[in-house]
Amino acid sequence: MLLATRQLQIRFLHEKDVPALVALWTDPDVTRYMGGPRDEEMLRAGLAKDAQWTDEAPLGLLPVVEVVSGAVVGHCGLIPKDVDGRSETELIYVLARAVWGKGYATEAAQAVMEYAFEALVLARLVALIDPANGASARVAEKIGMQHAGDTVRPSGKVLRVYARDARRGDRALHRVER
Ligand SMILES: CC(C)(COP(=O)(O)OP(=O)(O)OC[C@H]1O[C@@H](n2cnc3c(N)ncnc32)[C@H](O)[C@@H]1OP(=O)(O)O)[C@@H](O)C(=O)NCCC(=O)NCCS
Repeated sequence: MLLATRQLQIRFLHEKDVPALVALWTDPDVTRYMGGPRDEEMLRAGLAKDAQWTDEAPLGLLPVVEVVSGAVVGHCGLIPKDVDGRSETELIYVLARAVWGKGYATEAAQAVMEYAFEALVLARLVALIDPANGASARVAEKIGMQHAGDTVRPSGKVLRVYARDARRGDRALHRVER
């Protein structure tokens, strides 16, 4: 296991997780602001590759497991991304519809952010958010990100750039918030 929070575990992918992740990424509601449902065959091929990860692999998406049920309920992690010519690291959080509204995205995003700043010593994270995706913007704000501007993606879509720099004292701050 990589990260544990109060209600969630974030760990490496097992083959048995694939059906839940395929269901997640082919759900039109889940992917509404993320480019729409993915092609199932390409998705399975990508996930099969992810299942080969054995080492510490800091960048990429990892399954989110709900502790109370043991079910895979999401996918989150860090993806390198070029944003207007600048090399950024994007924080990604995607949860199954059935568990929306329980604070899971905030919990997962906070844990990945701490991992990024403390273990990987990254200096900055961004989240690229569709202006209509109010819940995602709220999650970004709850973990201390701020709307830093907008960007036009290669698809032509305009997304909001939420960003947060690593700050001294992050660890102490998180201890108080929990
Ligand atoms: C966005 C998403 C990750 C949120 O997951 P979640 O586990 O429900 O999030 P949380 O419960 O931690 O927090 C959601 C917050 O957004 C708020 N919210 C929910 N719907 C909202 C809306 N339409 N507009 C504004 N805020 C909204 C909630 O009230 C909550 O804030 P609060 O704690 O201040 O009340 C989830 O809906 C999801 O996976 N969506 C599809 C994938 C996606 O869009 N990911 C983000 C890509 S940038």
